[in-house]
Amino acid sequence: MNKKIAVIILAAGKSTRMKSDIPKVLHPICGRPMLGYVLDLVKDLKIKKAIAVLGHQQEEARKFLGPGIKVVIQKRLLGTADAVKKALPLLRNFKGTVLVLYADNPLLKKETISKLLKYHTENNLDATLLVAKIDDPSGYGRVLRDKYSSICGIAEEKDADDFEKGIKEINTGIICFNKDSLAAALKYVTPDNRKKEYYLTDIIGILYKRGGLVDALRIPDVNEALGINSRADLARANAIMQQRINEEFMRNGITIVDPGSTFIGYGARIGRDSTIYPFTVIEGGVRIGRRCRVGPFAHLREGTELKDDALAGNFIEIARSKLGVKTLVKHFCYLGDSRIGNLVNIGAGSVTANFDGRKKNTTVIKDRASIGSDTVLVAPVRIGKGAVTGAGSVVLKNVSDKATVAGVPARILKPKR
Ligand code: UD1
Ligand code: CA
Repeated sequence: MNKKIAVIILAAGKSTRMKSDIPKVLHPICGRPMLGYVLDLVKDLKIKKAIAVLGHQQEEARKFLGPGIKVVIQKRLLGTADAVKKALPLLRNFKGTVLVLYADNPLLKKETISKLLKYHTENNLDATLLVAKIDDPSGYGRVLRDKYSSICGIAEEKDADDFEKGIKEINTGIICFNKDSLAAALKYVTPDNRKKEYYLTDIIGILYKRGGLVDALRIPDVNEALGINSRADLARANAIMQQRINEEFMRNGITIVDPGSTFIGYGARIGRDSTIYPFTVIEGGVRIGRRCRVGPFAHLREGTELKDDALAGNFIEIARSKLGVKTLVKHFCYLGDSRIGNLVNIGAGSVTANFDGRKKNTTVIKDRASIGSDTVLVAPVRIGKGAVTGAGSVVLKNVSDKATVAGVPARILKPKR
Protein backbone atom coordinates (compact mmCIF):
# COMPACT_ATOMS: atom_id res chain seq x y z
CA MET A 1 0.00 0.00 0.00
CA ASN A 2 2.63 2.39 1.00
CA LYS A 3 4.58 2.97 -2.14
CA LYS A 4 2.40 5.93 -2.90
CA ILE A 5 2.98 7.50 0.49
CA ALA A 6 5.81 9.78 1.45
CA VAL A 7 6.27 11.20 4.90
CA ILE A 8 7.79 14.51 5.95
CA ILE A 9 8.80 14.69 9.59
CA LEU A 10 9.07 18.20 10.94
CA ALA A 11 11.73 18.32 13.60
CA ALA A 12 13.60 21.57 13.07
CA GLY A 13 11.98 23.55 15.84
CA LYS A 14 14.04 24.93 18.68
CA SER A 15 13.38 24.22 22.31
CA THR A 16 12.18 27.73 23.01
CA ARG A 17 9.21 26.87 25.18
CA MET A 18 11.13 23.99 26.74
CA LYS A 19 13.84 26.48 27.75
CA SER A 20 16.46 23.95 26.80
CA ASP A 21 19.80 23.76 25.04
CA ILE A 22 18.92 20.30 23.76
CA PRO A 23 16.72 20.10 20.64
CA LYS A 24 13.16 19.44 21.71
CA VAL A 25 12.83 16.28 19.66
CA LEU A 26 15.69 14.67 21.60
CA HIS A 27 14.08 15.11 24.99
CA PRO A 28 13.28 11.64 26.26
CA ILE A 29 9.91 10.07 26.96
CA CYS A 30 10.24 6.84 28.95
CA GLY A 31 13.96 6.96 28.30
CA ARG A 32 13.77 7.44 24.56
CA PRO A 33 14.12 10.63 22.49
CA MET A 34 10.61 11.65 21.42
CA LEU A 35 11.72 11.63 17.78
CA GLY A 36 12.06 7.84 18.11
CA TYR A 37 8.34 7.34 18.52
CA VAL A 38 7.60 9.15 15.28
CA LEU A 39 10.27 7.07 13.53
CA ASP A 40 8.51 3.96 14.81
CA LEU A 41 5.33 5.08 13.08
CA VAL A 42 7.17 5.42 9.80
CA LYS A 43 8.70 1.99 10.25
CA ASP A 44 5.50 0.29 11.38
CA LEU A 45 3.54 1.76 8.50
CA LYS A 46 6.28 0.56 6.14
CA ILE A 47 6.61 3.94 4.50
CA LYS A 48 9.70 3.81 2.35
CA LYS A 49 10.03 7.45 1.43
CA ALA A 50 10.75 9.53 4.50
CA ILE A 51 12.28 12.97 4.83
CA ALA A 52 13.13 14.65 8.10
CA VAL A 53 13.45 18.41 8.33
CA LEU A 54 16.08 19.35 10.88
CA GLY A 55 17.44 22.67 12.02
CA HIS A 56 21.09 23.44 11.81
CA GLN A 57 23.25 22.19 14.68
CA GLN A 58 21.09 19.12 14.95
CA GLU A 59 23.87 16.63 14.31
CA GLU A 60 22.70 14.49 17.17
CA ALA A 61 19.19 14.27 15.81
CA ARG A 62 20.65 13.32 12.45
CA LYS A 63 22.63 10.50 14.06
CA PHE A 64 19.51 9.29 15.79
CA LEU A 65 17.57 9.12 12.51
CA GLY A 66 19.86 6.48 11.10
CA PRO A 67 19.99 5.51 7.45
CA GLY A 68 16.88 5.28 5.28
CA ILE A 69 15.59 8.71 6.21
CA LYS A 70 16.66 11.62 4.10
CA VAL A 71 17.48 14.86 5.83
CA VAL A 72 16.94 18.43 4.74
CA ILE A 73 18.15 21.33 6.79
CA GLN A 74 15.90 24.28 7.43
CA LYS A 75 18.42 26.98 8.29
CA ARG A 76 15.97 29.63 9.35
CA LEU A 77 12.90 28.48 11.21
CA LEU A 78 10.31 30.32 9.19
CA GLY A 79 7.42 28.05 10.10
CA THR A 80 5.90 24.68 9.37
CA ALA A 81 4.92 25.53 5.77
CA ASP A 82 8.47 26.63 5.06
CA ALA A 83 9.78 23.38 6.55
CA VAL A 84 7.54 21.34 4.24
CA LYS A 85 8.61 23.50 1.30
CA LYS A 86 12.23 22.65 2.04
CA ALA A 87 11.43 18.94 1.82
CA LEU A 88 9.40 19.01 -1.40
CA PRO A 89 12.32 19.13 -3.87
CA LEU A 90 13.22 15.64 -2.64
CA LEU A 91 9.78 14.50 -3.81
CA ARG A 92 10.07 16.05 -7.26
CA ASN A 93 9.12 12.90 -9.14
CA PHE A 94 6.76 11.58 -6.52
CA LYS A 95 3.02 11.40 -7.01
CA GLY A 96 0.68 10.34 -4.26
CA THR A 97 0.03 11.13 -0.62
CA VAL A 98 2.31 13.22 1.52
CA LEU A 99 1.87 12.62 5.23
CA VAL A 100 3.21 15.35 7.48
CA LEU A 101 4.19 14.27 10.97
CA TYR A 102 5.38 16.58 13.73
CA ALA A 103 8.24 15.12 15.73
CA ASP A 104 6.84 16.69 18.90
CA ASN A 105 3.74 14.51 18.64
CA PRO A 106 5.01 11.23 20.11
CA LEU A 107 1.81 9.58 21.32
CA LEU A 108 0.14 8.87 18.00
CA LYS A 109 -0.68 5.25 17.32
CA LYS A 110 -0.03 3.56 14.05
CA GLU A 111 -3.65 2.37 13.81
CA THR A 112 -4.74 6.00 13.86
CA ILE A 113 -2.37 7.04 11.09
CA SER A 114 -3.39 4.00 9.05
CA LYS A 115 -7.01 5.02 9.32
CA LEU A 116 -6.18 8.57 8.34
CA LEU A 117 -4.26 7.42 5.26
CA LYS A 118 -7.04 5.07 4.28
CA TYR A 119 -9.72 7.71 4.66
CA HIS A 120 -7.63 10.19 2.70
CA THR A 121 -6.92 7.92 -0.25
CA GLU A 122 -10.32 6.27 -0.43
CA ASN A 123 -12.04 9.63 -0.62
CA ASN A 124 -9.50 11.11 -2.97
CA LEU A 125 -9.10 14.23 -0.87
CA ASP A 126 -6.72 17.12 -1.28
CA ALA A 127 -6.06 17.27 2.44
CA THR A 128 -7.21 15.26 5.43
CA LEU A 129 -6.63 16.54 8.92
CA LEU A 130 -6.33 14.47 12.04
CA VAL A 131 -8.41 16.36 14.59
CA ALA A 132 -9.50 15.90 18.18
CA LYS A 133 -12.11 17.44 20.42
CA ILE A 134 -10.56 18.50 23.69
CA ASP A 135 -11.77 20.39 26.75
CA ASP A 136 -8.79 22.69 26.94
CA PRO A 137 -7.82 23.52 23.35
CA SER A 138 -5.37 26.27 24.28
CA GLY A 139 -2.14 26.20 22.32
CA TYR A 140 -3.56 24.24 19.41
CA GLY A 141 -4.80 25.38 16.02
CA ARG A 142 -8.62 25.47 15.96
CA VAL A 143 -10.57 23.84 13.15
CA LEU A 144 -12.87 26.29 11.38
CA ARG A 145 -16.02 25.06 9.68
CA ASP A 146 -18.40 26.85 7.35
CA LYS A 147 -22.18 26.89 7.65
CA TYR A 148 -22.39 23.48 5.99
CA SER A 149 -19.93 22.30 8.58
CA SER A 150 -17.24 21.76 5.95
CA ILE A 151 -13.72 22.53 7.09
CA CYS A 152 -12.73 25.94 5.78
CA GLY A 153 -9.53 26.73 7.64
CA ILE A 154 -7.45 26.55 10.79
CA ALA A 155 -6.95 29.43 13.20
CA GLU A 156 -3.71 29.34 15.15
CA GLU A 157 -3.97 30.20 18.85
CA LYS A 158 -2.00 33.44 18.53
CA ASP A 159 -4.20 34.70 15.71
CA ALA A 160 -7.56 33.38 16.85
CA ASP A 161 -10.33 35.74 17.93
CA ASP A 162 -12.44 35.06 21.00
CA PHE A 163 -15.02 33.05 19.09
CA GLU A 164 -12.34 30.91 17.46
CA LYS A 165 -10.56 30.43 20.76
CA GLY A 166 -13.76 28.87 22.07
CA ILE A 167 -13.66 26.12 19.44
CA LYS A 168 -12.75 22.82 20.98
CA GLU A 169 -12.01 20.97 17.79
CA ILE A 170 -8.26 21.13 17.28
CA ASN A 171 -5.70 20.27 14.65
CA THR A 172 -3.35 17.57 15.94
CA GLY A 173 -0.79 18.72 13.40
CA ILE A 174 -0.93 15.50 11.43
CA ILE A 175 -2.18 16.12 7.90
CA CYS A 176 -2.30 14.02 4.72
CA PHE A 177 -2.02 15.86 1.47
CA ASN A 178 -2.29 15.04 -2.13
CA LYS A 179 1.24 15.94 -3.22
CA ASP A 180 0.25 18.13 -6.15
CA SER A 181 -2.41 19.99 -4.19
CA LEU A 182 0.10 20.58 -1.41
CA ALA A 183 2.78 21.89 -3.76
CA ALA A 184 0.29 24.20 -5.49
CA ALA A 185 -1.18 25.59 -2.27
CA LEU A 186 2.21 26.17 -0.61
CA LYS A 187 2.87 28.95 -3.08
CA TYR A 188 0.06 30.98 -1.59
CA VAL A 189 1.13 30.80 2.04
CA THR A 190 2.28 34.14 3.43
CA PRO A 191 3.71 35.02 6.83
CA ASP A 192 0.82 37.36 7.36
CA ASN A 193 0.15 36.55 11.03
CA ARG A 194 1.19 37.39 14.59
CA LYS A 195 4.18 35.08 14.59
CA LYS A 196 5.29 36.20 11.11
CA GLU A 197 5.66 32.55 10.19
CA TYR A 198 4.62 30.48 7.22
CA TYR A 199 1.94 28.28 8.71
CA LEU A 200 1.34 24.90 7.12
CA THR A 201 -2.15 25.11 8.51
CA ASP A 202 -2.95 28.06 6.23
CA ILE A 203 -3.05 25.58 3.39
CA ILE A 204 -6.41 24.35 4.59
CA GLY A 205 -8.05 27.76 4.04
CA ILE A 206 -6.24 28.12 0.73
CA LEU A 207 -7.47 24.75 -0.54
CA TYR A 208 -11.00 25.56 0.60
CA LYS A 209 -11.01 28.85 -1.28
CA ARG A 210 -9.70 27.18 -4.40
CA GLY A 211 -12.41 24.54 -4.32
CA GLY A 212 -10.26 21.72 -2.96
CA LEU A 213 -11.59 18.78 -1.00
CA VAL A 214 -10.66 18.91 2.67
CA ASP A 215 -11.94 16.61 5.36
CA ALA A 216 -10.91 15.35 8.76
CA LEU A 217 -10.74 12.24 10.85
CA ARG A 218 -11.35 12.62 14.55
CA ILE A 219 -9.32 10.61 17.03
CA PRO A 220 -11.27 9.23 19.96
CA ASP A 221 -8.30 9.04 22.34
CA VAL A 222 -7.40 12.68 22.88
CA ASN A 223 -4.13 11.65 24.53
CA GLU A 224 -2.80 10.85 21.10
CA ALA A 225 -3.10 14.50 20.14
CA LEU A 226 -0.72 15.75 22.80
CA GLY A 227 1.96 17.95 21.27
CA ILE A 228 5.03 18.56 23.40
CA ASN A 229 5.80 22.23 23.72
CA SER A 230 6.78 22.56 27.39
CA ARG A 231 8.30 20.55 30.22
CA ALA A 232 4.81 20.09 31.62
CA ASP A 233 3.67 18.56 28.31
CA LEU A 234 6.74 16.34 28.45
CA ALA A 235 5.78 15.04 31.89
CA ARG A 236 2.22 14.43 30.72
CA ALA A 237 3.39 12.50 27.68
CA ASN A 238 5.76 10.52 29.84
CA ALA A 239 2.94 9.47 32.14
CA ILE A 240 0.72 8.40 29.25
CA MET A 241 3.51 6.49 27.54
CA GLN A 242 4.43 4.83 30.84
CA GLN A 243 0.88 3.67 31.26
CA ARG A 244 0.93 2.20 27.76
CA ILE A 245 4.21 0.40 28.40
CA ASN A 246 3.05 -1.01 31.74
CA GLU A 247 -0.26 -2.16 30.31
CA GLU A 248 1.52 -3.94 27.51
CA PHE A 249 3.64 -5.82 30.05
CA MET A 250 0.59 -6.77 32.07
CA ARG A 251 -1.13 -8.03 28.92
CA ASN A 252 1.90 -10.22 28.36
CA GLY A 253 1.74 -11.89 31.75
CA ILE A 254 3.86 -9.72 33.99
CA THR A 255 2.51 -8.61 37.36
CA ILE A 256 3.03 -4.95 38.13
CA VAL A 257 1.80 -4.44 41.65
CA ASP A 258 1.48 -0.68 41.38
CA PRO A 259 1.72 0.61 37.79
CA GLY A 260 1.57 4.18 39.05
CA SER A 261 4.93 3.90 40.79
CA THR A 262 6.64 1.62 38.29
CA PHE A 263 8.81 3.24 35.65
CA ILE A 264 9.89 0.97 32.85
CA GLY A 265 11.85 2.38 29.95
CA TYR A 266 10.94 1.93 26.32
CA GLY A 267 12.44 -1.30 25.00
CA ALA A 268 12.94 -3.15 28.31
CA ARG A 269 12.07 -6.85 28.19
CA ILE A 270 10.46 -8.85 30.98
CA GLY A 271 9.54 -12.53 30.93
CA ARG A 272 6.14 -13.85 31.99
CA ASP A 273 5.25 -14.46 35.60
CA SER A 274 7.80 -11.96 36.78
CA THR A 275 6.57 -9.52 39.41
CA ILE A 276 7.57 -5.90 39.67
CA TYR A 277 6.99 -4.35 43.08
CA PRO A 278 6.29 -0.65 43.67
CA PHE A 279 8.71 2.27 43.37
CA THR A 280 10.90 0.59 40.82
CA VAL A 281 12.78 2.04 37.88
CA ILE A 282 13.75 -0.30 35.06
CA GLU A 283 15.65 1.38 32.26
CA GLY A 284 15.20 0.79 28.54
CA GLY A 285 17.90 -1.75 27.76
CA VAL A 286 17.20 -4.05 30.71
CA ARG A 287 16.39 -7.73 30.17
CA ILE A 288 14.50 -9.68 32.82
CA GLY A 289 13.76 -13.38 32.53
CA ARG A 290 10.77 -15.37 33.68
CA ARG A 291 9.52 -15.59 37.25
CA CYS A 292 11.89 -12.89 38.47
CA ARG A 293 11.05 -10.55 41.31
CA VAL A 294 12.14 -6.94 41.23
CA GLY A 295 11.68 -4.27 43.89
CA PRO A 296 10.23 -2.64 45.82
CA PHE A 297 12.58 0.34 45.44
CA ALA A 298 14.87 -1.18 42.86
CA HIS A 299 16.73 0.62 40.11
CA LEU A 300 17.84 -1.57 37.24
CA ARG A 301 19.96 0.46 34.88
CA GLU A 302 21.01 0.03 31.26
CA GLY A 303 22.89 -3.15 30.44
CA THR A 304 21.39 -5.19 33.23
CA GLU A 305 20.17 -8.71 32.66
CA LEU A 306 18.39 -10.98 35.11
CA LYS A 307 18.07 -14.62 34.14
CA ASP A 308 15.00 -16.67 35.07
CA ASP A 309 13.99 -16.84 38.74
CA ALA A 310 16.48 -14.18 39.80
CA LEU A 311 15.52 -11.72 42.48
CA ALA A 312 16.55 -8.09 42.89
CA GLY A 313 14.78 -6.93 46.02
CA ASN A 314 14.55 -3.88 48.22
CA PHE A 315 16.79 -0.86 47.64
CA ILE A 316 18.94 -2.43 44.97
CA GLU A 317 20.79 -0.62 42.21
CA ILE A 318 22.18 -2.71 39.40
CA ALA A 319 24.05 -1.32 36.40
CA ARG A 320 25.62 -3.12 33.43
CA SER A 321 25.48 -6.47 35.22
CA LYS A 322 24.27 -9.98 34.55
CA LEU A 323 22.64 -12.11 37.24
CA GLY A 324 22.31 -15.83 36.61
CA VAL A 325 19.38 -18.18 37.19
CA LYS A 326 18.02 -18.18 40.75
CA THR A 327 20.56 -15.65 41.91
CA LEU A 328 19.33 -13.59 44.82
CA VAL A 329 20.22 -10.06 45.77
CA LYS A 330 17.62 -9.13 48.27
CA HIS A 331 18.49 -6.05 50.29
CA PHE A 332 20.45 -2.78 49.96
CA CYS A 333 23.05 -3.47 47.30
CA TYR A 334 24.94 -1.85 44.47
CA LEU A 335 26.13 -4.09 41.69
CA GLY A 336 27.94 -2.44 38.79
CA ASP A 337 29.81 -4.00 35.85
CA SER A 338 29.46 -7.50 37.22
CA ARG A 339 28.94 -10.95 35.83
CA ILE A 340 27.23 -13.09 38.40
CA GLY A 341 26.55 -16.77 37.87
CA ASN A 342 23.64 -19.00 38.84
CA LEU A 343 22.40 -19.68 42.36
CA VAL A 344 24.55 -16.96 43.89
CA ASN A 345 23.39 -15.35 47.10
CA ILE A 346 24.41 -11.78 47.73
CA GLY A 347 23.98 -10.67 51.33
CA ALA A 348 22.44 -7.44 52.49
CA GLY A 349 24.46 -4.30 51.96
CA SER A 350 27.03 -5.75 49.59
CA VAL A 351 28.66 -3.45 47.10
CA THR A 352 30.85 -3.76 44.04
CA ALA A 353 33.45 -1.02 44.20
CA ASN A 354 33.68 -0.83 40.43
CA PHE A 355 35.17 2.61 39.89
CA ASP A 356 38.82 3.28 40.68
CA GLY A 357 38.62 6.98 40.00
CA ARG A 358 39.50 6.56 36.35
CA LYS A 359 37.70 3.60 34.94
CA LYS A 360 35.03 1.03 35.66
CA ASN A 361 36.26 -2.46 36.58
CA THR A 362 34.54 -5.79 36.43
CA THR A 363 33.47 -8.11 39.22
CA VAL A 364 32.95 -11.77 38.43
CA ILE A 365 31.07 -14.03 40.84
CA LYS A 366 30.82 -17.67 39.85
CA ASP A 367 27.95 -20.12 40.44
CA ARG A 368 26.79 -20.89 43.97
CA ALA A 369 29.08 -18.37 45.63
CA SER A 370 27.79 -16.79 48.81
CA ILE A 371 28.59 -13.17 49.47
CA GLY A 372 28.26 -12.27 53.16
CA SER A 373 26.38 -9.20 54.28
CA ASP A 374 28.22 -5.94 53.81
CA THR A 375 30.93 -7.35 51.59
CA VAL A 376 32.80 -4.81 49.49
CA LEU A 377 34.11 -6.36 46.30
CA VAL A 378 36.91 -4.11 45.07
CA ALA A 379 37.01 -4.62 41.32
CA PRO A 380 38.58 -6.00 39.28
CA VAL A 381 37.99 -9.12 41.30
CA ARG A 382 36.76 -12.67 40.82
CA ILE A 383 34.95 -14.82 43.35
CA GLY A 384 35.23 -18.51 42.50
CA LYS A 385 32.55 -21.19 42.33
CA GLY A 386 31.00 -21.96 45.68
CA ALA A 387 33.32 -19.48 47.45
CA VAL A 388 32.16 -17.65 50.57
CA THR A 389 32.92 -14.15 51.84
CA GLY A 390 32.31 -13.37 55.52
CA ALA A 391 30.17 -10.51 56.69
CA GLY A 392 31.97 -7.20 56.40
CA SER A 393 34.76 -8.50 54.16
CA VAL A 394 36.62 -6.11 51.93
CA VAL A 395 37.77 -8.32 49.08
CA LEU A 396 40.80 -7.00 47.23
CA LYS A 397 42.08 -10.21 45.66
CA ASN A 398 40.53 -13.00 43.65
CA VAL A 399 39.01 -15.78 45.74
CA SER A 400 39.45 -19.29 44.39
CA ASP A 401 36.67 -21.84 44.00
CA LYS A 402 35.19 -23.03 47.30
CA ALA A 403 37.50 -20.87 49.43
CA THR A 404 36.16 -18.82 52.35
CA VAL A 405 37.56 -15.36 53.02
CA ALA A 406 36.82 -12.75 55.69
CA GLY A 407 38.16 -9.55 57.20
CA VAL A 408 39.55 -6.24 56.04
CA PRO A 409 41.27 -6.83 53.75
CA ALA A 410 39.77 -10.29 53.30
CA ARG A 411 42.07 -13.26 54.00
CA ILE A 412 41.54 -16.93 53.47
CA LEU A 413 39.89 -18.56 56.48
CA LYS A 414 39.45 -21.95 55.06
CA PRO A 415 41.35 -23.07 52.01
CA LYS A 416 39.68 -25.13 49.34
CA ARG A 417 37.47 -27.81 50.78
C1 UD1 B 1 1.32 23.27 15.43
C2 UD1 B 1 0.19 23.62 14.44
C3 UD1 B 1 -1.13 23.66 15.23
C4 UD1 B 1 -1.36 22.33 15.88
C5 UD1 B 1 -0.18 21.94 16.76
C6 UD1 B 1 -0.33 20.50 17.23
C7 UD1 B 1 1.18 25.07 12.74
C8 UD1 B 1 1.32 26.47 12.26
N1 UD1 B 1 0.47 24.91 13.85
O1 UD1 B 1 1.46 24.31 16.36
O2 UD1 B 1 -2.20 23.94 14.35
O3 UD1 B 1 -2.55 22.40 16.67
O4 UD1 B 1 1.05 22.01 16.03
O5 UD1 B 1 0.65 20.13 18.15
O6 UD1 B 1 1.69 24.16 12.13
N2 UD1 B 1 8.95 23.02 12.96
C9 UD1 B 1 9.89 23.02 11.96
N3 UD1 B 1 10.24 24.21 11.39
C10 UD1 B 1 9.69 25.40 11.75
C11 UD1 B 1 8.70 25.38 12.76
C12 UD1 B 1 8.36 24.19 13.33
O7 UD1 B 1 10.43 21.97 11.60
O8 UD1 B 1 10.07 26.43 11.18
C13 UD1 B 1 8.56 21.74 13.56
C14 UD1 B 1 8.78 21.66 15.06
O9 UD1 B 1 10.03 21.05 15.36
C15 UD1 B 1 7.65 20.78 15.52
C16 UD1 B 1 6.55 21.00 14.50
O10 UD1 B 1 7.16 21.56 13.38
O11 UD1 B 1 8.01 19.41 15.53
C17 UD1 B 1 5.43 21.89 15.02
O12 UD1 B 1 5.96 23.15 15.37
P1 UD1 B 1 5.49 23.93 16.67
O13 UD1 B 1 6.19 25.23 16.70
O14 UD1 B 1 5.61 23.06 17.86
O15 UD1 B 1 3.94 24.18 16.32
P2 UD1 B 1 2.75 24.45 17.33
O16 UD1 B 1 2.80 25.86 17.78
O17 UD1 B 1 2.71 23.40 18.36
CA1 CA C 1 4.10 21.69 18.90
